[in-house]
Amino acid sequence: NWVMKDFIQKEIVRIRHLVGETAQVIGAVSGGVDSTVAAKLMKEAIGDRFHAILVNNGVMRLNECEQVKETLEEHLGINLTVVDGAELFLGRLKGVKEPEKKRKIIGATFIDLFQQEALRIEKEAENTPNAGPVEWFLQGTLYPDVIESVSYKGPSATIKTHHNVGGLPDTLKLKLIEPLREMFKDEVRKFGEELGIHRDLVMRHPFPGPGIAIRILGEVTPERVAIARAADHIFISEIKASGVYDEMSQAYVAISQDRAVGVQGDARVYGYIAILRAVKTLDFMSAEPFEFDFGLLKRISTRIVNEVDGVARVTYDITSKPPGTIEME
Ligand code: XMP
Repeated sequence: NWVMKDFIQKEIVRIRHLVGETAQVIGAVSGGVDSTVAAKLMKEAIGDRFHAILVNNGVMRLNECEQVKETLEEHLGINLTVVDGAELFLGRLKGVKEPEKKRKIIGATFIDLFQQEALRIEKEAENTPNAGPVEWFLQGTLYPDVIESVSYKGPSATIKTHHNVGGLPDTLKLKLIEPLREMFKDEVRKFGEELGIHRDLVMRHPFPGPGIAIRILGEVTPERVAIARAADHIFISEIKASGVYDEMSQAYVAISQDRAVGVQGDARVYGYIAILRAVKTLDFMSAEPFEFDFGLLKRISTRIVNEVDGVARVTYDITSKPPGTIEME
């Protein structure tokens, strides 16, 4: 695609000019299409002066950390550091039930770890020729993120805090670089394909920064994380196996706060309710529930109850957005 190639070349030139000959850039990657495309673009523009950082926040999906590492390092050749923050994040989330508090804790902990990494990279740079100070922070912010965060800030309250929008805290003395700020999701996907990123990754559903922490209603404990992960893995695997993954925009499993009763053999058991959510949307500002084949839904339900210890029931959320939101918290 000639238009895309031309756009990529212009963007690379613009980034080189902006960053200069020696400054270094750090950027968070999550394995999602936005941060991966932004990272690949940066790598093309400034090579190893770009440092991708993957923070394991303890609330990623099953095997996700390993998969992201493999894709970015081995397939895309990006200079990547994995920071294991799982214990730190889960420790700080202990006892916290309120959704916005969870988001704030996760956002602040991300920043703490990035700050540490920026310092470490800067120290290393002292001994590396042509590597100057870390001056920039890369974010894969898209145009709808920008609009949605503005429209969310009503006169009375912020409905949700998107931790990846709204600038950086003053403590992080870095300038923000957002090469995708004027793009829509479908454009980023085309952009990603043109940059040679694998189709599976390019077509991945979006995944929120606070991860499954906002899909575990109430307190996030290691036990509940394991349950949510296992149920989500079955749901997404079945969706992929039946060939409908690309027909929906986002899908996941949430876990209830309270427990419901079920029967196993002759015994009464109490387990959480796994709430399936799958939506179709063009812009993520409004969304409709995905119309599953009922047989598939029943199969998924049976598998989750049978295979995931700690789940007693499965429900399917058919709320549109509005009035619902895509995430559960
Ligand atoms: P909602 O739930 O607001 O979600 O309808 C719209 C889109 O935004 C994602 N989302 C988030 N992404 N941090 C993020 O990085 C967040 O706190 C957050 N909350 C929602 C959600 O997954 C969906 O794609």
